[in-house]
Amino acid sequence: MTSIRRLEQATPAERQALTELILATVNGGASIGFLAPLAPEVAEAYWQGVLVSLGPGLVLWVAEHDGRIVGSVQLAPSLRQNGLHRADLMKLMVHPSARGQGVSSRLLREVERFARGVGRTLLVLDSELGSTAESVYQHHQWQRVGEIPGYAKDTGGVLRSTVVYYKNLSS
Ligand SMILES: CC(C)(COP(=O)(O)OP(=O)(O)OC[C@H]1O[C@@H](n2cnc3c(N)ncnc32)[C@H](O)[C@@H]1OP(=O)(O)O)[C@@H](O)C(=O)NCCC(=O)NCCS
Repeated sequence: MTSIRRLEQATPAERQALTELILATVNGGASIGFLAPLAPEVAEAYWQGVLVSLGPGLVLWVAEHDGRIVGSVQLAPSLRQNGLHRADLMKLMVHPSARGQGVSSRLLREVERFARGVGRTLLVLDSELGSTAESVYQHHQWQRVGEIPGYAKDTGGVLRSTVVYYKNLSS
């Protein structure tokens, strides 16, 4: 059974599971900010940076399947005076072994539930053009804004377009 849990700090075992999750995700070809092959120490340092940043400006959830972390997502609420209704959704990832079972849908629904609850009614994200993630966001009624050509390298180092999406939770 899959459950979603907000993580405010992590045990060594949870850090290890998060590291394995991002290694499998990036080394499996997903464009989430890293080139492949991703080194374990870079992955560990990444999560260390996330964990120390958790607070008003960054919220982290994990999806667990039978107690094992199989997915995660982050929300970065804007801290700007004029953007307190807004948040960026980032780093949605599901372990390759757990895909196609609705895990990302569960994570996205939980992020939306949380965001509504704290008055963050405008969510924004970007995603590599043509990725599976794009289909998932469209399935969840995110609105496509447009493309930025050559925005980021894919895991193989080739520049790819990104697509910006938003979801208005108040409409
Ligand atoms: C994108 C990703 C998170 C999807 O995770 P997942 O758990 O396999 O997705 P789900 O099984 O929850 O599917 C999500 C929903 O989208 C739908 N969906 C999935 N693929 C789809 C596709 N190609 N076209 C249309 N709908 C699709 C599913 O039917 C599901 O809807 P439902 O819950 O209403 O049945 C996963 O493939 C991943 O981790 N990719 C690598 C990391 C990445 O690219 N992250 C995005 C960064 S922007």
